[in-house]
Amino acid sequence: MAQRLMNGAQLWAICAVICVIYGGVKAADRVTGTIRFLMFDRGSNQLVNVPDSNADFAKSSCKPSEQFAIIVHGWREGTDSEWVGDMVSNFTVHRPGCVMVMHYANNSHTIDYFNELLPHFDKLANVLAAHLRRMESIGFDPAKGHIFGFSMGAQLALEGSRRFGLQKINRIDACDPAGPGFDNVPEHMLLDPKQAARQVQCIHTSANFGTRRRDCHISWNMGNCGRDQVAARPFPKGSHGLCPYFYNSAFVHRFHPVAKPRQCVSQRLAHGWPRELRMGYHCDMDSGVSGELFSLTTRNFPFTDEQVFDGTIP
Ligand SMILES: *[C@@H]1O[C@H](CO)[C@@H](O)[C@H](O)[C@H]1NC(C)=O
Ligand SMILES: *[C@@H]1O[C@H](CO)[C@@H](O)[C@H](O)[C@H]1NC(C)=O
Repeated sequence: MAQRLMNGAQLWAICAVICVIYGGVKAADRVTGTIRFLMFDRGSNQLVNVPDSNADFAKSSCKPSEQFAIIVHGWREGTDSEWVGDMVSNFTVHRPGCVMVMHYANNSHTIDYFNELLPHFDKLANVLAAHLRRMESIGFDPAKGHIFGFSMGAQLALEGSRRFGLQKINRIDACDPAGPGFDNVPEHMLLDPKQAARQVQCIHTSANFGTRRRDCHISWNMGNCGRDQVAARPFPKGSHGLCPYFYNSAFVHRFHPVAKPRQCVSQRLAHGWPRELRMGYHCDMDSGVSGELFSLTTRNFPFTDEQVFDGTIP
């Protein structure tokens, strides 16, 4: 009887261990198993899943010989977000090559950013890094890669690319990278956004959801010192949410850099500088390029004034 009881207890202990391990695997699956990479299919003119097989991938609309772009959305977003669709079509028109979207809507659609999304950041960044490694193994050239990320997606673009390899990706455009959960984490503050790609351009539009850091190769400050926007409307088009809209509009509208408003050095809200939607000033961290103009969207920088304003896409 005693023997049987002990066996019973042992059985339960083993079962508990298995259940805990299984539960852990299931939790990881719930995060990574629902992340999808989609690509723009030129035949059907829509987003389709990136093929699981490498051979099919290489034969798809995304050719390894071409340049590629990856769009990474933010919290409470997905491929159904208005700006994502607009950006896919703007990229396909203005930047030939492969256009992809990292879709993690199962995680991002949670209301609870701090408890339900942020804890998965590490896994999400690994999935992006793994995707980049897969693409490289198929023959895609990271030096022809361009990643756009918004909010948490901007942090993912930076961290996923760093894990893939320091400055291997050609260019990252980080649109109002998320501040909450990042700016107050000392380990994160040690990570240099400039290491994520050869050219890292950050566009800042809000102080509440956006990072307060200004240490990309180019940091654009839109509106009021990059802290808030005159055009802000209720969620999802507040100062933060407008960032990808500014970016999309820069595909078709000229972008006029303006001088850094003197008021921006102080903490109080300043008045009196140009408030046009598409205006911003840049503070670049690399000495020697100061004074040049840089294009906001698909063109490579640095550019001379002439190249920025001639209205054609190289
Ligand atoms: C979440 O994942 C399930 C299962 O993979 C899928 O059917 C569903 O479309 C996903 N939801 C979103 C919002 O992507
Ligand atoms: C580019 O984005 C804008 C939104 O700013 C949208 O109105 C437009 O249709 C997009 N362009 C293309 C070619 O899809």
